Amino acid sequence: MPGERFLVEGGHRLKGSVQVSGNKNAAVHAIAATLLTADDCCLENLPAIGDVRSMLDILGGLGVEVERLSPSSVRINAANIHTFAAPSDLAVSLRASFLVMGPLLTRFGQGACCPPGGDVIGLRPLDIHLTGFAALGADVEREGDKFVARAPRLRGNRIFMDYPSVLGTQNLMLAASLAEGTTVIVNAAAEPEIATLGDMLNHMGARICGAGSHTVEIGGVGELHGTTHRIMPDRIEAGTFAIAAAISEGEVEIRDGEARHLDALIWKLREAGVEVDEVETGVVVRRRGPLRAVNAQAVPYPGLATDLQAPMSVLLTQADGVSFIYERVFDNRLLYVGELRKMGAEMVTSGTTAIITGPTPLYGTNVRALDLRAGAALVLAALAAKGQTEISEIYHLDRGYENLDGKLRALGAVIERI
Ligand code: EPU
Repeated sequence: MPGERFLVEGGHRLKGSVQVSGNKNAAVHAIAATLLTADDCCLENLPAIGDVRSMLDILGGLGVEVERLSPSSVRINAANIHTFAAPSDLAVSLRASFLVMGPLLTRFGQGACCPPGGDVIGLRPLDIHLTGFAALGADVEREGDKFVARAPRLRGNRIFMDYPSVLGTQNLMLAASLAEGTTVIVNAAAEPEIATLGDMLNHMGARICGAGSHTVEIGGVGELHGTTHRIMPDRIEAGTFAIAAAISEGEVEIRDGEARHLDALIWKLREAGVEVDEVETGVVVRRRGPLRAVNAQAVPYPGLATDLQAPMSVLLTQADGVSFIYERVFDNRLLYVGELRKMGAEMVTSGTTAIITGPTPLYGTNVRALDLRAGAALVLAALAAKGQTEISEIYHLDRGYENLDGKLRALGAVIERI
């Protein structure tokens, strides 16, 4: 709800066990993929978050049938579509809306979408998506507020991506799956969310090899059929709780936190002095002593996720020494530093590098969640702060974290939504 805020009283150790929800990004990617078939697709383990609702609304706006089967599962049927253009008023609310382009273009011969919205974390151009569609034989034009791509039938091609863009790789995988002939994407993004999309598409009858590596080969097929697909756990949510355990000097079992997907974070946490045990159910994170300063770089997978860059910086405000954090994915993802400084953090930025001197006590005050992960960083800071922190604009957090306040409360945090 607009106007809602979090009130957090700091200084409570988190203890207990938390269940990771379905992966935000994998969920919105899977919703887009259902546009590739006229059959029913069922998606399970969807997180109850704003971005999933927005993506379902966008499909609804195209004429797609969406039926809730349970709070975390839906049936989607895209047999009847009455427009090939994503509704702009909805598309501006999330970046993933542009992912309707690939499926619409390849299945119906045309797709249109305005430049999508999402977090304000940099320029976020679309050139990789658009040049990829053109390489598959589409005419791509700007018409009014929208990009429009048209082609009677796409033709497979070898495509080199300037940068391993996550949504760019996925848009081209979706488009190429119904193209004539074979497509090879070179320098593809290798995030686990790409691998799981490849699995879903293969269950729908696609012929995709290498999804989750830097070279993806897609053999085009004539049509795809329906499937039931379970959304993988959210590695960024898992990482956020790992850092919450560490910053609060607590001990938390993160159920379904897949250690393999958290390698880079676990490595850095251990280097900083946090104990992380990989167990059958997920990971257990425990902090018993002081933290050491570390340097870290946010880079494409399997490097440290840019989505965990702000949370990791907050942890390092409590570490002994000077830490350097290099943001190498987005050009403007350090805006949260100003909010953290209000709380007493000794942080400065130089370009896309944050330099953090610690340990410094943090103090509760009024701060704004500027975007989803910046908001998460402030919640983490508030857990460690002396006194009460009021965080406004938490609708950003509700876009991407399922019941964050409820889950933290169950671990012993004092956090209230007002
Ligand atoms: N880029 C281009 N041209 C393009 C596309 C991207 O230059 O055509 C640049 C971007 O400007 C950026 C870099 O490539 O500097 C990486 O962007 P990428 O395309 O990989 O990001 P994305 O696909 O738009 C997804 C996630 C983000 C996550 C990034 C990186 C979804 C819906 N979003 O975005 O998630 O940070 O990959 O891993 O999957 C979040 O969850 O908080 C979030 C922002």
